[in-house]
Amino acid sequence: MNSYRTHTCDALRPADVGSDVTLVGWVDTVRDHGGVIFIDLRDRAGKTQVVFHPENNAALAAEAESLRVESVIQVSGKVVHRLKTDEVDATNPDLATGEIEVEATSMNVLNRAAVLPFQLDRNISNEDIRMKYRFLDLRRPNMQRNMILRHRITKAMRDYLDEQSFLEIETPILSKSTPEGARDFLVPSRLAPGCFYALPQAPQQYKQLLMVAGMERYFQVARCFRDEDLRADRQPEFTQIDIEASFITPEDVYKWIEEMLQRVFKESVGRDISIPFPRMTWHDAMDQYGSDKPERRFDMKLTDCSDIFATSDFRVFSGAIANGGVVKAINAKNFSPSVGQIDSLTQTAVEAGAKGLAYIKVRDVNERDGWKSPITKRLTDAEIDALKQRLNIESGDCIFFAAGPWEESCTILGRVRLECAEYMELLKGNTDVDLFWVTRFPLFGWDAEEQRFCAIHHPFTRPVPEDVDKVLRGEISTDLCAEAYDIIFNGNELGGGSIRIHEKDLQDATFRALGLDDATIQEQFGHILSAFSFGAPPHGGLALGLDRVVMLIAGCDSIREVMAFPKNNRGADLMSESPAPAEPNQLRDIHIQVKLPEKLRQKLEAEKAAAAEQQA
Ligand code: AMO
Ligand code: AMP
Repeated sequence: MNSYRTHTCDALRPADVGSDVTLVGWVDTVRDHGGVIFIDLRDRAGKTQVVFHPENNAALAAEAESLRVESVIQVSGKVVHRLKTDEVDATNPDLATGEIEVEATSMNVLNRAAVLPFQLDRNISNEDIRMKYRFLDLRRPNMQRNMILRHRITKAMRDYLDEQSFLEIETPILSKSTPEGARDFLVPSRLAPGCFYALPQAPQQYKQLLMVAGMERYFQVARCFRDEDLRADRQPEFTQIDIEASFITPEDVYKWIEEMLQRVFKESVGRDISIPFPRMTWHDAMDQYGSDKPERRFDMKLTDCSDIFATSDFRVFSGAIANGGVVKAINAKNFSPSVGQIDSLTQTAVEAGAKGLAYIKVRDVNERDGWKSPITKRLTDAEIDALKQRLNIESGDCIFFAAGPWEESCTILGRVRLECAEYMELLKGNTDVDLFWVTRFPLFGWDAEEQRFCAIHHPFTRPVPEDVDKVLRGEISTDLCAEAYDIIFNGNELGGGSIRIHEKDLQDATFRALGLDDATIQEQFGHILSAFSFGAPPHGGLALGLDRVVMLIAGCDSIREVMAFPKNNRGADLMSESPAPAEPNQLRDIHIQVKLPEKLRQKLEAEKAAAAEQQA
């Protein structure tokens, strides 16, 4: 193959018996069988067994035996059949090279490995140690598989988009703040003292400007940076497959994404998925599942019970309805939650904004005192009967309620629903793929803290045609609808996008609806308004979170498993130890002085001392 090797460790077969070969790779295992030394040699492609017979070359066998695992060696030798007789079978059907082995005649040790900080063939629960030695962690077969899968998926996307005439264009990393809803990472400028670049939260404005520039179809494997609280599916630095096109409707976007994902599944894991994907409005998603990214692989839908309780003596319910709200319920079939589970579900509801979580454990559906609950004594027989019908209640079921404003009640019950499903193990062993669109998002939300409207997607999103005039006239409300869509995969948001505003007056009206004054609009968005006054084509697009796509196809539960060098949940890279303090002269160059509040400084000092003590 080249001067280092003749074959990879996955290549040799019985047909190669008799040939002289040279392999390179890592020592996966060293075994001693009565003086004969066996090494499993591993490279990215696979493994080959190498055997050292002391009677052929005692010194070579001794050196092989002395090797630590993960050392790098080059071995030359002859391919032979593995022993297979009536008594002994040394072949390994699990290995592609399992019928042969290489009888070593010479070996070149390229690098001796020190004692490893952890065994590569064991499951390591301590993620910190994996991250500190990520270069070792990535050698593990499942991590190699994830990286290969990521490459395959990215390549399938690139190939598809290329065939559809999309151009791959890079946009700046040192850029200006674009409002995607998270906090920006800032980079101080040396040449412009006191000024900062923002790292892009997404290439949103640039890709729109590329449409104004006549590129018509753009995509990018784009790095995005968001300084937000981290979770299993969120990193401060992540990758989008970012797409934008001119002269299109949402139908074009749906078709491209559906065909692209179909191809991705086929080419990466050989799975057939059917297109087109179903669609669901945001309103129905919230109303039925209590989430804008519904998990639909189990039922337990939210059911409206407002009419049952409109005149109830139970004021928690009737009061909510009198205030324009709703009473919603879910029936967790055949679920008998423990006291601890009820506490945790209540906590979940409260964190989502509830004052409490009313529930009924139905031991015996036909006996009034078989309905176990703090609230049943406040309900009439007629109400209990109506509930029984509405929710199809049987003995053994558990009912949960949320009473209050519609969206809030749906959200609360949506979270309770997901947590119940976890306790009930409704998704255990489920391998279904549920891909679908959520459409017709609201255009604006109400930010109670700041007492102003906010953009639900981003401020470049177009209202649906029937709401354009209302925005232009300044008739702003949370009832307006956006020409925006999200793609959902098994309850996860894979991507989102919209048709954009391409007219200066509509963009201007949208900024004003968000409470921006003329000076701020000019200062922050003057370039885009200017672009829209020089022949901007109608355009729209979408961005897929690549890390999430790979995570879900790989069946992992964290995007850190499919990123080569992720940050931990405190935003740190434990391997390179970043972030780290800067040198004083570096800071001087960029005109920055670090001044921590005294209390914070003391706290950090104390933490540092404690960490040092723990190390020692
Ligand atoms: P949005 O903000 O919805 O849209 O992001 C698109 C997709 O990017 C992924 N994503 C993330 N993945 C990992 N870590 C994060 N912190 C993170 N944040 C987002 C998600 C999400 O669906 N410019 C618009 C797109 C457009 O309008 O075309 C945008 O960025 O999978
Ligand atoms: P109370 O009348 O305050 O004793 O509440 C009775 C039950 O209703 C308690 O179990 C509360 O947790 C629950 N509860 C209170 N407010 C709500 C609400 N808005 N939605 C659903 N349940 C509630």
